[in-house]
Amino acid sequence: MDLGLRGRRAVVGGGSSGLGRASAEALAAEGCDLFLWSRSDERLALVAAELRAAHGVDVGWIAADATAREAARVVAEAALAAGDVDILVSNAGGPPTSDPTATDPDDWQRAFQLLAATPIDLATRLLPSMRERSWGRIVAVLSSGVRQPIADLVYSNAGRSALASWLKTTARAVAAEGVTLNGVMPGRLHTPRIQQLDSGRAEREGTSEADVRATHLANIPAGRYGDPAELGAVVAFLASERASYVTGQLVAVDGGQIIGM
Ligand SMILES: NC(=O)c1ccc[n+]([C@@H]2O[C@H](COP(=O)([O-])OP(=O)(O)OC[C@H]3O[C@@H](n4cnc5c(N)ncnc54)[C@H](OP(=O)(O)O)[C@@H]3O)[C@@H](O)[C@H]2O)c1
Repeated sequence: MDLGLRGRRAVVGGGSSGLGRASAEALAAEGCDLFLWSRSDERLALVAAELRAAHGVDVGWIAADATAREAARVVAEAALAAGDVDILVSNAGGPPTSDPTATDPDDWQRAFQLLAATPIDLATRLLPSMRERSWGRIVAVLSSGVRQPIADLVYSNAGRSALASWLKTTARAVAAEGVTLNGVMPGRLHTPRIQQLDSGRAEREGTSEADVRATHLANIPAGRYGDPAELGAVVAFLASERASYVTGQLVAVDGGQIIGM
């Protein structure tokens, strides 16, 4: 299937690693030009060079920190200065783990800036030009925690639920204008973040990483962690011409982990 992405241009958050990088790779493989962002200049430069060399697409980038209030403005201005933006893959890092009975107001503020305020601000800044050109795709990387809260990730469960709610509301507001907004909900896919979560839990519980992984695998019907490319493929489809009648949806990419319908 030709996804109709050749010549489109996508802003991809967290594009230097894990799920963001895999999404960037899937889009680039379809001939989509890219504008990446995350915090580290060094990693972005490296990944941009690799994607350019592998796929022959144009790849720009800028460093910004999604926990900072000005991040969305900085990224949107830089991306739009270099050309039209057709697609936004909304993604960055995750918040810390926490005991849900002992959360901290400053941590809530940081988590909501990272997971809701910055993604909404960035999408809001990119939406007008998508609406003017009657074509746009916003795909947010959420988490299975939106549907099935994860015990030690309360900041993530709540912050991403706020973003999901904004996506669903806004999808209806712009549905007649050729602009779609959807989310993907990863379960457990092999990335540096998941590696850190598993090793952190092993340390907290005085057990091994293998034991932590076995506990997770017992709840994943597919019997394995996912490959980031398996999420990148779903993101590329939702960002494509072919997904033109899909909007306001949250798609799990979780090997069957979420139990509810
Ligand atoms: N992997 C999974 O199975 C899974 C499951 C559920 C949810 N998620 C969520 O999906 C998102 C991507 O996770 P991942 O597994 O791909 O993690 P990852 O491999 O650690 O990648 C995170 C990416 O985000 C960037 N980033 C981190 N903090 C940032 C910040 N404050 N501002 C801007 N960019 C930032 C990182 O680059 P820099 O360090 O250079 O900034 C990196 O490019 C996270 O929000 C994660 O919690 C992942």
